[in-house]
Parts: sequence; C-alpha cells; structure tokens
Amino acid sequence: MCSVGRPNLLRFDVWLPGITVVLLLLACVPLCAQSGKYGLGRTPTPEEIRGMDITIPPDGTGLPPGHGTAAEGREIYERRCSRCHGHKGEGGDEPKQSPLVGGKSSLKTPKPLKTVGSYWPYPTTVWDYTSRAMPFDKPGTLTTNQVYAVVAFVLYMNNIVGENTVLDASSLPRIKMPNREGFVRDPRPDTGPKPSARKKLNRKR
Ligand code: HEC
Repeated sequence: MCSVGRPNLLRFDVWLPGITVVLLLLACVPLCAQSGKYGLGRTPTPEEIRGMDITIPPDGTGLPPGHGTAAEGREIYERRCSRCHGHKGEGGDEPKQSPLVGGKSSLKTPKPLKTVGSYWPYPTTVWDYTSRAMPFDKPGTLTTNQVYAVVAFVLYMNNIVGENTVLDASSLPRIKMPNREGFVRDPRPDTGPKPSARKKLNRKR
C-alpha cells in the first residue's frame, strides 16, 4: 500500500527528537551572543557609559559642574526655544502648543494647564529634561552652562528665581517649586519608602 514506509506525523517519538534539537539551539542563542561568538557588539568603555548615563534624579545627584543665570539664558531661550515655546513661554505653534509658563491655580479646574510653573515638582527634572531632550529638534546640543542658564530663564519666567540668581549643582536642587507639595503619596505597596521606613511610618499612625 502506498502508506508503507511513510512516517506517521502523529507519533510523538517521530517529531520529539527534532523539536528537542530546535529548542536546544534556541536556548543557545543568548549564550552565544553574549560570548561574542558572532563578533557582534562589544563592551562599552567606562567613558561611553558616562556619556549616556546622564539621568539627574530629583535630589540633583550627578548635576555637572557649571552655572548660569536667567539674564544669561534670555538670549539662548530666544534663539533656541522661543520658536516652539513662545517668547514668554506661553507656547508656540510648532510642532504643537507646549507652554512652559502659566496654569497656576488651574490644576483643580476641569481644564488643568500643566506647565513647569504650575505642575513640575522639582527644578532638577527641568534640568534633566532640557539637557537630554531639548531643543526638541536638536537634543544634546546645549553646553552644561547653557542648560543651567536656560533653565534659570524658564524658572524666571515663572517667577520662581530672580534674574541674577546663579543656578549650579548646589543651588538648583534647593529651589522649591510652587507645586512641590501638590502630589499625594502613591499608595501601592511596592512604591514609596523602603519597607523598613514604611514600618516606622505605620507605627507613627
Ligand atoms: C522644535 C520645537 C522645540 C524647540 C526648539 C524646543 N522645544 Fe521644548 N518642547 C517641544 C515639544 C514638542 C515639547 C513636548 C514634548 C512632549 O510632550 O513629548 C517640549 C517640551 C518641553 C518641556 C517640558 C514641558 C512640559 O511641561 O511637559 C520643557 C521644560 C522644554 N520643552 C524646554 C525647552 C527649552 C529650554 C528649549 C530651548 C533650549 C526648548 N524646549 C526648545 C518643542 C520644542
């Protein structure tokens, strides 16, 4: 009969060895990639890691040396930011309205306007965001001093610092933003203070 000699595809012992080989090969892929067998990639140098490791947390750890004032930032803002954010931070047209000023006391209304001045809790985040992401079309092109200066100007437009207040790694984290106390603690158990600190908090209640 014609079925003689054809493997029975429903039989486990026919395809099991094949599947096993495929699975073993797949399991080997990450290991092989890591061992550099394919000659792809290399370990980044400490310098390269430093170049990418630019996150500045709210407490300002890692803010680089440098300084700037709003007076110095005015011209930089005009040249590099006003096209999109408006001459007074009111928001421009390109590529969408992104105001940096205004909105105070709007947060509890049905149409909250969240800006650096009305919403952002930490000045260090403004530094971090500007340094890594702005200008929108050419991020990473400002020098450290220019970032300090232009952040000072954004805070100045929001009446948070004076025109000649010098911002640097030690003064910037100490600025208290208007909405600093406007946030509630995240109640999920896996967020907030470490378990030991949480226990102490609970005991106080
Ligand atoms: C080409 C347009 C453009 C330029 C130039 C530009 N920005 Fe922006 N900026 C944007 C856009 C668009 C957003 C919103 C991005 C988003 O929501 O993902 C933004 C967001 C921001 C924010 C956050 C605002 C918020 O409340 O979410 C800050 C702060 C900021 N820009 C600062 C600056 C500074 C300082 C400069 C100049 C050094 C600058 N930007 C230049 C387009 C621009």
